[in-house]
Amino acid sequence: MAIQTLDDLAVQGTTLGVRIDINSPLTDDGDLADDARLRAHVDTLSELLDRGGRVAVLAHQGRPGGDQFSPLRTHADRLDELLDAPVGYTDATFSSDARRAVEGLGDGEAVVLENTRFYSEEYMEFPPERAAETHLVEGLAPALDAYVNDAFAAAHRSQPSLVGLPVELPGYAGRVMERELDVLGGMEGTPEPRTYVVGGAKVPDSLAVVESVLDRGLADAVLTTGVVANVFLLADGVDLGDASADFIYEQGYWDEIDRAADLLAEHGDRIRLPEDVAVERDGDRHEIRVADLPPEEGEAAMDIGAATVEAYGETVTGPGTVVLNGPAGVFEDETFADGTRRLFETATDAEYSVVGGGDTAAAIRRFGIEGFDHVSTGGGAALAMLTGERLPAVEVLRG
Ligand code: 3PG
Repeated sequence: MAIQTLDDLAVQGTTLGVRIDINSPLTDDGDLADDARLRAHVDTLSELLDRGGRVAVLAHQGRPGGDQFSPLRTHADRLDELLDAPVGYTDATFSSDARRAVEGLGDGEAVVLENTRFYSEEYMEFPPERAAETHLVEGLAPALDAYVNDAFAAAHRSQPSLVGLPVELPGYAGRVMERELDVLGGMEGTPEPRTYVVGGAKVPDSLAVVESVLDRGLADAVLTTGVVANVFLLADGVDLGDASADFIYEQGYWDEIDRAADLLAEHGDRIRLPEDVAVERDGDRHEIRVADLPPEEGEAAMDIGAATVEAYGETVTGPGTVVLNGPAGVFEDETFADGTRRLFETATDAEYSVVGGGDTAAAIRRFGIEGFDHVSTGGGAALAMLTGERLPAVEVLRG
């Protein structure tokens, strides 16, 4: 069944529970280190407020027990600055205090409710019908007329604020959700040939993407970078040296080498490996051709080299689709930022370009690269979509 969007919602004078994902990196002082996720929801929130809605914002920040687990007052203050409408805050989520704050809203006003994960049930995964029986949903739903889910980045979670509220209330996709589903759910229809550039350090997640896009015939080429490429190089019999091999072993990724070898055996004609890598030598970047590996004792492959950027660059420009998932090296360190920066800049020239995954979007923001057709707000959710999984918070919106 088609998902209803804001185009199907009569907004004026209705009280809406709007789930967004503003889970953001925080500084040691608890300030927002990056407000990109808040800015992403401005369109949805502004539209609902301009159309006379009364908006109760639901969101989470961090994970229970973690150092990023915090109240949403700072997020509410930032939203108040970003939106042309008053945005309040209450330190309650579904209690009578929360309901009072929601029921006190006028048309075109918003209140941010407290971090949903301050309540233990919100950090558990339930089937939707069971999620609808949790305290959060039973407490809050009576104060709301409808539910809007704009939290694409959390849509792979089956938690009460994501799957329980739309059981009790008519559910709609917000503008972020709508666009993410259109783009990431529509990869079969994008211009061909399709190239997936898969890198980063989360090797099992990335290999799942590689497997899926090759098995489903979605990718004409997979260009490997980052630690993912190192795993493929080892699978191909390249001696990367002890430092790179030890890192992969310590991360618990040793078995992934067999998985990469299977992928090379089955789809080797569509998988490309780096031609050179960058290591640190005498405090500087030093590039080595793969044919000349291993590096010297203690040197680890930290980035792709210039020859690889040039060779891959020919594939990621011009006609067709490019999907970037995962940085090409340790981009946080300027010595090893070049591969990611130059490859990503080149990819903006592709006919159609999509960026998926939290670290990838962070790299793009760090380098200030613009010009992609779509930069996903999702990390795990974007990966799940790229591997063709169904997202529970999306399925429940289908009714
Ligand atoms: C994310 O940051 O990917 C989402 O907000 C989901 O967060 P989680 O992985 O803690 O559930």
